[in-house]
Amino acid sequence: MTNATLKFGDKELELPMMSPTVGPDVIDIQKLYAQGGVFTYDPGFTSTASCQSNITFIDGNKGELLYRGYPIDQLAEKSHFLEVCYLLLYGELPTSEQLSDFVPRVTRHTMLHEQMAYFYRGFRRDAPPMAVVCGVMGALSSFYHDSTDITDPEQREIASIRMIAKIPTITAWAYKYSIGQPFVYPKNELDYTSNFLHMCFSVPAEKYVVDPILSRAMDRIFTLHADHEQNASTSTVRLAGSSGANPFACIAAGVACLWGPAHGGANEAALNMLREIGTVDRIPEYIARAKDKSDPFRLMGFGHRVYKNFDPRAKVMKESADEVLGLMGIENNPTLQVAKELERIALSDPYFIEKKLYPNVDFYSGIILDAMGFPSSMFTPIFALARTVGWIAQWKEMISDPTQKIGRPRQLYTGATFRDYVDVEKR
Ligand code: CMC
Repeated sequence: MTNATLKFGDKELELPMMSPTVGPDVIDIQKLYAQGGVFTYDPGFTSTASCQSNITFIDGNKGELLYRGYPIDQLAEKSHFLEVCYLLLYGELPTSEQLSDFVPRVTRHTMLHEQMAYFYRGFRRDAPPMAVVCGVMGALSSFYHDSTDITDPEQREIASIRMIAKIPTITAWAYKYSIGQPFVYPKNELDYTSNFLHMCFSVPAEKYVVDPILSRAMDRIFTLHADHEQNASTSTVRLAGSSGANPFACIAAGVACLWGPAHGGANEAALNMLREIGTVDRIPEYIARAKDKSDPFRLMGFGHRVYKNFDPRAKVMKESADEVLGLMGIENNPTLQVAKELERIALSDPYFIEKKLYPNVDFYSGIILDAMGFPSSMFTPIFALARTVGWIAQWKEMISDPTQKIGRPRQLYTGATFRDYVDVEKR
């Protein structure tokens, strides 16, 4: 690979180029400031690779998402979430022995320290479950401080397994707390996803049997959300982790970042928007608003920084929505009708075609979760549950990278230049 030549002023610099296994080449600018005395400017990191990674790859033009090389649609159809967790964490699909070792390693850690039940009670009952999940995840560092030494690979592994095992319990308890029902303890005889549904929907007063169809749909939602390379929350986890912060604190930072409506919060916002539209005849009004530059409204669940084609996760999610609602006998759900018609109209509108705006993963997920009985305040916590493994895989990759440094961006300063302090009476 030849170097890139950069000319500015009277300087000419040779910058090394790097090639990925797939995707665009990269210009290595690490020595740019030392050799040229300049920085680069890229707010929002639209053209900046912040790390080397071999976990997840997105081809935004093709609409392709690969976990360790495997396409998301194949994993969603043929695999299951814990197998995908293994793949993301260790790089290969497990053999049956590896899987039989891994699954109980996770399911043995599903309980929370009993003291944590009291910690929950410090939150107001009306606290958004996402706030509770963020707080409890951060608090794990104070309950499990025997696994916070990031220089010890064994402690990193224990912390990782603990977080993947406990996040369904944390999330289910955030839900139970918000509706005033007793916490339901994990049942390790259930698979990972059924256990989550059990902790959310069972009550001590009645027997609850998890519907395998709903469990499969939920498991697929987990798989679709498990990782998405260097998105905002993952970059937040990496940045927090780059200072050597403990793993629980780093993942809590990821949860906080995911919350925003431009990121994981879009699933809640998308369902709220579909409900607000309400009927198919009101769609043109909302399309017009989305196109109006003077109106801050955006079609939630539409558009993506990387995908300039269909988000492959949205395709699987749409099929799942049809399947779940069909099986529940509510295929005429008005929200699903509005979603499908909105998608059809938007995809034939020049504004959306020119800007390459397609439905993303959040467009249909809320409809499925709503049909399962979750309130919209639980959608983003469920996204956080599923993404925890991706954050951990990326965090572990960063910690074991010998070239890893603290993340410290530069800036284009536009403030006042040096000036002397003026005493208050002279201002
Ligand atoms: N509705 C209407 N117009 C849009 C939309 C939308 N949903 N998304 C982008 N645009 C327009 C935008 O106004 C801009 O137009 P112009 O070039 O005339 O200024 C152009 O498309 C490019 O948008 P951008 O904001 O510069 O693109 P971005 O890469 O910074 O933003 C995004 C990506 C996902 C934040 C944005 O598309 C968006 O706000 N979508 C709605 C929120 C959403 O669904 N988020 C979930 C993302 S997928 C799951 C996840 O990552 O968590």
